[in-house]
Amino acid sequence: MQSMRLGIVGKGGVGKTTVAGLVARAYVEQGRSVVAIDTDSNPNLGLSLGLSLAETEAIPVLPRSLIVGSGGSTTAAELISEFGRVTPAGPTLLSAIKVAQAGAGCTCGGHATVRGILADALADVDVVLVDMEAGLEHLSRSGGTLAYADALLVVCEPTRKSALTATRTAALAAELGIPATLAVGNKAKSGDDADFFAAALNRDGLRLAAVVPYDQDIAQADRAGTLAAVTIPPALAQAVDEILAAVSDTLGAVAR
Ligand SMILES: Nc1ncnc2c1ncn2[C@@H]1O[C@H](COP(=O)(O)OP(=O)(O)OP(=O)(O)O)[C@@H](O)[C@H]1O
Ligand SMILES: [Mg+2]
Repeated sequence: MQSMRLGIVGKGGVGKTTVAGLVARAYVEQGRSVVAIDTDSNPNLGLSLGLSLAETEAIPVLPRSLIVGSGGSTTAAELISEFGRVTPAGPTLLSAIKVAQAGAGCTCGGHATVRGILADALADVDVVLVDMEAGLEHLSRSGGTLAYADALLVVCEPTRKSALTATRTAALAAELGIPATLAVGNKAKSGDDADFFAAALNRDGLRLAAVVPYDQDIAQADRAGTLAAVTIPPALAQAVDEILAAVSDTLGAVAR
């Protein structure tokens, strides 16, 4: 059976990598096997999954522009076994794009490889999570990196700009044929923020899956590089549960 493929998208700095780490950990806690793909050109999802900076930087970057799957030179499973690193938090991490030097060229080839991995069948993986680089071009880039995603989680903070990015994302995702786009309202500090998310993010083609509170301990642990070891505060854990429930509800139960 095909794995469930989730893309985590949104404006810069809204909390994509934090939410990707929390969601990946929650699926692992449910006993699911998770592959997490970092497509940030400055990769740091490894830090959220318990690797040190040196370990995160040592992950070999996926080859670019591969044709993955039948007719191609390799399969997604082979790429995961060769380039994936098991993290202390449980998920296997792939690093798809790294810009190590100035003027190293565009990252389209790396995006093409990720697209191929999502298109290929993975027998032993329950959930594939892609932590996307900020911006919308991965949805319009020819073919779309996330064209084979089953759902997008578009992360927002309580700002008009990030909400606008979310509504634009939902429209582009629908054009690409991605079945569902769910919004995550992150860094909520008040009931007003929750109301803002409810008003701005429940609209055509978009549904607010959860409001994630701003949590000082999370921000601090992230700064200290200890996010993967932190005990998730109950309010945050509940929000993450709501995200997982909304995903299952939207896509149908993923009984694997
Ligand atoms: N719920 C939260 N509570 C407190 N701080 C948070 C929360 N979510 C994210 N942050 C903080 O916000 C900052 C940005 O988070 P993160 O790196 O996850 O965003 P991003 O969207 O992945 O950014 P980029 O676009 O640079 O990839 C970090 O300092 C992180 O610790
Ligand atoms: Mg990030």
